[in-house]
Amino acid sequence: MIVLGIETSCDETAAAVVEDGRKLLSNIVASSSDLHIPFGGVVPEIAARSHIEVILPVIDEALKKAKTDWEQIDAIAVTQGPGLLGSLLVGVLTARMLAIAKNKPLYGVNHVEAHVYAAFLTEVAPVLTTNYQLPSTPPKFPTLALIVSGGHTQLVLFQDHFKYKVLGKTADDAVGEAFDKVAKILGLPYPGGPSIAETAKKGSPDTIDLPVPKTEGKYDFSFSGLKTAVLRAAQSMSGHAYDFPSARIPEALNEARKADIAASFQKTAILTLFNHLKAAEKEFHPKSVVIAGGVAANHELREYTLKHLSTSIIYPDLKLCTDNAAMIATLGYYHASNKRPEANPYSLEAEPGLQM
Ligand code: KG4
Ligand code: ZN
Repeated sequence: MIVLGIETSCDETAAAVVEDGRKLLSNIVASSSDLHIPFGGVVPEIAARSHIEVILPVIDEALKKAKTDWEQIDAIAVTQGPGLLGSLLVGVLTARMLAIAKNKPLYGVNHVEAHVYAAFLTEVAPVLTTNYQLPSTPPKFPTLALIVSGGHTQLVLFQDHFKYKVLGKTADDAVGEAFDKVAKILGLPYPGGPSIAETAKKGSPDTIDLPVPKTEGKYDFSFSGLKTAVLRAAQSMSGHAYDFPSARIPEALNEARKADIAASFQKTAILTLFNHLKAAEKEFHPKSVVIAGGVAANHELREYTLKHLSTSIIYPDLKLCTDNAAMIATLGYYHASNKRPEANPYSLEAEPGLQM
């Protein structure tokens, strides 16, 4: 079964073709992130306009790279939510139109759940082999999944496809959002995750004592207190009081101090994620752990968890951690093969607040 995936939940316009939920035939991602740099974050209006401009060429490119024509496509899967309304609408309406025009079954999928499905891709078309490093086997159930992105941080226990329990989620900021905000405090470029990771390499993670956040629910997360603790540490290291404006911090700190702050923050964020994973591993004895979403691209997180968890961990390829449509097509395949209800192409609605 060959599925075309379409993803437009934030600032990436993506289309991909996946065979049998495990073989990647093409994966095209056009990002408008450069357009958002001057604003230090995604501007919804700019993202939506840019999706409109590139969505059809991106889909054409995905079909072409996969050497697939419409005849061979068995189903279309599209991100229904969560995400930015204007962005989601472009993908959903395009998928609806194509499902009607090409007479294909349509599936609306959950973007957060789909991040986990990037880990189910284990093969690539021969032309792509040098570009991707995929796990050799898919996750085994029960699977403990940590989904860490710019919009979401949640720990989910999957007993099977579509049979899962959300163990915990963030009470405030997502961990990727915390990376982005701390980068902003230090004057590092957007997106903050990769900038923090790069800067942290030059610093010492033990310079500042940051609190590992506490929450009411055993498996819930909280990152806004950590971000504030970083702000206070940055103010004090630059020799100022707590009312020193955050916009002036970057000029008041030298590179070495920025690196120490970045490294200390990264260490604390990773430890917070790890502590939850370790506790859930102990309680639920999963057969596989999947760490997915944009923050799963973080090398320190990968190394730390690989070293300290006993369950085998499946990390998707770096290019499949950040937003892409391969994960959407893969989850779409499981919708189809598990005989989940098809979406009505005349009425499928974008759902910005869709929950797992
Ligand atoms: O999954 P994703 O592309 O989009 C959402 O669905 O949110 O995740 C983007 C997030 C951003 O917050 C970005 O800063 C973070 O992932 N990120 C990283 C790294 N690469 C991307 N965070 C930490 N370390 C990285 N290497
Ligand atoms: Zn995402």
